[in-house]
Formats: sequence, C-alpha cells, structure tokens
Amino acid sequence: MSYNVDKSSVFSFALDTGISKDRESSRRYLSNLKGMVADEGALEKMIKKEDTLVYEFYELGVPENPGDLAFGTSICYPGKIGDEFFMTKGHFHGILDIAEVYLCIRGRGLILMENPEGDCTYEVITPGMMVYVPKRYAHRSINIGKEPFVQFFAFRADAGHDYGTIETKGFRKLVVEQNGDFALIDNPKWGKA
Ligand SMILES: [Fe+2]
Repeated sequence: MSYNVDKSSVFSFALDTGISKDRESSRRYLSNLKGMVADEGALEKMIKKEDTLVYEFYELGVPENPGDLAFGTSICYPGKIGDEFFMTKGHFHGILDIAEVYLCIRGRGLILMENPEGDCTYEVITPGMMVYVPKRYAHRSINIGKEPFVQFFAFRADAGHDYGTIETKGFRKLVVEQNGDFALIDNPKWGKA
C-alpha cells in the first residue's frame, strides 16, 4: 500500500508494543542472522530447536523521495545467541550522508554505530530517550534488557540501505553479556567474509 505524500495523513502504532495495524511487519528470524554472529555453533543449535523471531519492523511505506521522511517502528526481542544479545542486522545508508533518529518507547537497548573510517560509538536508551545517528555511521539496535526493545525511527526517505557491507564485514564491536550487564568487545571476525 502506498499513499500520497503530498497530503497529510495519519498512522497509528501501539505505544507499548510498537505494533501498527496499518502495515504488515518485516520479520527477521535466527536463521536470517547466519554468518553475522560470533557463535555460529550456538546459533545453529538454537535454530534446530526453534527458529525464533529476533526482530521485526513496520515501515510505513513512504516513497524514496529526497524531500520526504521514512519512518516506522522497530521491535527487537530479548534473547542471546551464546553471550551476544539479540540484535538487528544493521546497515549503512545507501546514501552515506543521511542521518536518522531512533526514539525508544519500550525496553532498554543499545544503538551500536561505526563509520567507514573505523570510529565506533554507542548509546544506551530507555523510553523517552532518542538517539541521533549521525550521517556516515552504520547502526544496529541491540536489546540489552529483558523486555522487547521498541523504537520509533525516522530518516530522509531516499537514504536507502546498504546491508551488504555489514553482512560481509560485520561491526568492529560485539555487544555481549558480562557479569549481568552488557559489555563491548572487539569482534574477532571483523573484516573476514
Ligand atoms: Fe538506518
């Protein structure tokens, strides 16, 4: 379903779950993370038991025009693969120079960011906190809490998504559980396809 972006319009999503009845969500399961996690053995074992839903997102279908805004909600469920928290695949924008905002509406999560020059940074957000993801930074949402990590996001509609760079190189940092909290560690597989 597309809509006329030259007229005003209203969308709805539940403030507790992030679910929108206006669209179907796009869903990513454990099997979609193959090749992207630190402990592939743990991942395989989990998939054999059940191919759990890791995250889903509702994109509300704005056409990719530079003057428009794309937006929606993202829901990352709680869980771990080995010691690594459930996370989204993450991406650079196809047009690298486009920023994005993420507003947390439920849970506790971490936005992991890095730019092509290797600068790595992160922010931890809880409901009411918003991260400004600067242009040029790849970004991944990670659930470091015990309930769904739900966010609203918005970015320039023509940004596009480069998933391939992260799928092949990974992020330089991993976010794992250590002593009951999160810790960032170097990704030993970074850069190795
Ligand atoms: Fe993005």
